[in-house]
Amino acid sequence: MNAEEIDAQALQQALAPLPLGPIRFHRQVGSTNDLAMAWVAAGAPDLSVVVAEEQTAGRGRAGRRWYTPPGAALALSVILRPPRGGPPGLAPRVTALGALAVSEAVRDGWGLDARLKWPNDVLVHGRKIAGVLAEATWQGDRLQAVILGIGVNVTPRAVPPPEAVQFPVASLEEVVDDRVDRLALLQAVLRGVLDWRPRLHEPAFIARWQERLAYLGERVEVTPPEGPAHIGRLRGLDEHGGLILASENGEIRTFHTGDVRQMRPVDREAK
Ligand code: BTN
Repeated sequence: MNAEEIDAQALQQALAPLPLGPIRFHRQVGSTNDLAMAWVAAGAPDLSVVVAEEQTAGRGRAGRRWYTPPGAALALSVILRPPRGGPPGLAPRVTALGALAVSEAVRDGWGLDARLKWPNDVLVHGRKIAGVLAEATWQGDRLQAVILGIGVNVTPRAVPPPEAVQFPVASLEEVVDDRVDRLALLQAVLRGVLDWRPRLHEPAFIARWQERLAYLGERVEVTPPEGPAHIGRLRGLDEHGGLILASENGEIRTFHTGDVRQMRPVDREAK
């Protein structure tokens, strides 16, 4: 299936071999993450999935907008119910889970060396092809679920206009110079989510995340929600997936997702 519409029946068929929960498909939604959240409140089981052909109010990190024009992208949300009393710090790992699943899907499907731009972007040749938004829902102080929202730019029409982006972007079809079967891609991404999910709290997961990290050893600038930016050489990840930076004067700092509005390379062209 390329620029044509996703067919609901073909979607169910493509995902039938995977041990997922129920799947809901919508032609047009505001945001699949919002629908997934409402579904959690209504009792959606673990691994329920929402897929949309078009989002009119897709959300990105830090309150940014996410474009999902019809027939051009993948937009999905997976509901992950935590084990009872779920471990803290789940959402950052779930973000990486989504990004890792996309990076491995495009590596296995098209031989691409996709890199993870911490904390939530997937880059190919330095351009963003996908983004992940993991959002937790709580009932009082009990974590109900983490919604894993994944957006992939599949055709060039999914790429927002230059004035709407702060980082170089591309679509998968542009980088592979061929048409891409969105259902095959969706299936591969969900397979990756299912494969890695049981190992989320193992050191091997952080190790794989770090292996795929963009800008390792390079200088990056990390901008917190408020206050000045920090520049340092990207050393890697700590055991929780925090980003370790070494500044010029040898000071080591670790950043967690909530402390960072933006991260960008310093010594490469920004756009
Ligand atoms: C980012 O790069 O800032 C994250 C983008 C996440 C987009 C996906 S598309 C499916 C899901 N629904 C949303 O509204 N957002 C996520």
